Amino acid sequence: MTAMNGEVQESVMAAEAKQTCYEGSSVQSFQFYLEHSGEHEAILQCVHNILPGEFKRIGAGKSSLDVLGVGSGGGEIDAQMLTLLQSTFPAVPITADIVEGSSQLTDNFKGLVAKTTNLQKIPFAWYIMHSEDYERQVKEKGDMKTFDFIHMIQMIYYVDNLADTIKFYHSLLKNNGRLMIIIEAANGGWDTLWKTYKKDLCVDAIQEYRSSGEVIACLKSQGLKYEEHVIPNSFDITECFNPSSQTGKRLLNYMTANDNFYQSFSPEIKGGMLELLRNKCSTEKDGRVLFNSNMSCILVYA
Ligand SMILES: C[S@@+](CC[C@H](N)C(=O)[O-])C[C@H]1O[C@@H](n2cnc3c(N)ncnc32)[C@H](O)[C@@H]1O
Repeated sequence: MTAMNGEVQESVMAAEAKQTCYEGSSVQSFQFYLEHSGEHEAILQCVHNILPGEFKRIGAGKSSLDVLGVGSGGGEIDAQMLTLLQSTFPAVPITADIVEGSSQLTDNFKGLVAKTTNLQKIPFAWYIMHSEDYERQVKEKGDMKTFDFIHMIQMIYYVDNLADTIKFYHSLLKNNGRLMIIIEAANGGWDTLWKTYKKDLCVDAIQEYRSSGEVIACLKSQGLKYEEHVIPNSFDITECFNPSSQTGKRLLNYMTANDNFYQSFSPEIKGGMLELLRNKCSTEKDGRVLFNSNMSCILVYA
């Protein structure tokens, strides 16, 4: 696909609706979670610490830079990373390809591009489809566009096959390129909750919970070179222990990927999950329950 400066190109594939991509109530639930978890702020801090040096290495001596975002959501983090890349290489043209299955979140991303002057210099190619369909399409076409920087932020939980996905995106890296995967940390709060209650939670969009542990094991088995950085984060879940709290209810819904935590699980399961959340997934400070949501930023080398 050729893209002209400033022109927004679009490739929409009417993919059969698969539940992993966020639409409707899951977009609202995700947005609520972002407002309460400090997750984007923590990721951005890591981006600003690590990527300036990485971008210098990735871009050294190159006359153009191509970025691929997979599962970019509303693009808030993409926007910051692209801005950082532009400021690192002001004279080098940059392209951005985005693979995101949610049309609603892609619209938000396009809205963000429309109001961010520096991003309008970047030609975007939008692939509104599942990662698996993008992979199929690229392989069918045969002429693989390759990239200097590929990122998958908080999305690898949703792909069908972890090993195949990593292998595919790694194969799209250019010389000196990096694949950045951000995922919940091994043994963090999410990992503990989802692995302990696997039978009850891994029933819908997520069939097999993954944390950085599974990703690292996969990279090792493929013999890929990588480095890992911890992204520390925690957020206040005290409200989750007050059954009449709307905030608590909405956080529990997102954390269990469920539309209605209180109606969906038996009293034993609910009680067990709440106890686990308090005692194994969190620490208490000044009477508040702080959920451990450390993430891991994994940079895979070309
Ligand atoms: C937790 S959100 C993260 C969004 C964004 N990266 C961020 O950190 O704000 C997961 C994103 O992955 C997208 N997604 C889920 N399954 C996908 C798939 N199979 N292919 C592409 N995108 C997918 C969802 O629509 C959603 O935007």
